[in-house]
Amino acid sequence: MKEFQLKSRSEDETREIAAILSTLFHAGEMIVLDGELGAGKTQFAKGFANALGCVDNVTSPTFSIANFYKTREWEILHVDLYRVETPEEYEALGLEDYFPRVVTLVEWGSKFPGYLDPSLAVSFARERGGDSRVLTITCANDAIGKSIERIMPRLTLFLSC
Ligand SMILES: Nc1ncnc2c1ncn2[C@@H]1O[C@H](COP(=O)(O)OP(=O)(O)OP(=O)(O)O)[C@@H](O)[C@H]1O
Ligand SMILES: [Mg+2]
Repeated sequence: MKEFQLKSRSEDETREIAAILSTLFHAGEMIVLDGELGAGKTQFAKGFANALGCVDNVTSPTFSIANFYKTREWEILHVDLYRVETPEEYEALGLEDYFPRVVTLVEWGSKFPGYLDPSLAVSFARERGGDSRVLTITCANDAIGKSIERIMPRLTLFLSC
């Protein structure tokens, strides 16, 4: 499985999709989140972190650029590249040093192609007005594709046809 689409009809559904996907990840892995302002990237991060036992209020790291959240097993590094203007500025943040021991979620993660090495990409598209979002999920390798096939029964409800 390389790419598939899910439909979320509310912020709760986006958090639920993230919670289901969160069971597949381990320290050292990364998800990039893309889509326009207000598309739902932070809601996804919130659902992901809370499902893994994070009790903090997950908020947008637009101004802090990066936040850490403790989960039951490892920390989540939640990054937002919206205000990072150049690849040099990104590199100067030194975030890569943390990648091996955290799961990293990066909003606006496709901004500097080639600088990140995600296992999964989630791209959010708003449908005309309203609360619906189409999530296009792209697996970067066979391993994550196979893991997703395993949990697909839990995602069937959200499959977009
Ligand atoms: N299906 C949906 N999924 C996610 N959020 C939704 C949905 N429907 C409505 N919303 C609303 O859209 C907004 C999404 O905000 P969020 O902060 O997650 O966006 P974002 O993609 O992180 O934006 P930014 O690029 O500014 O960081 C919230 O106000 C949320 O309530
Ligand atoms: Mg955000």
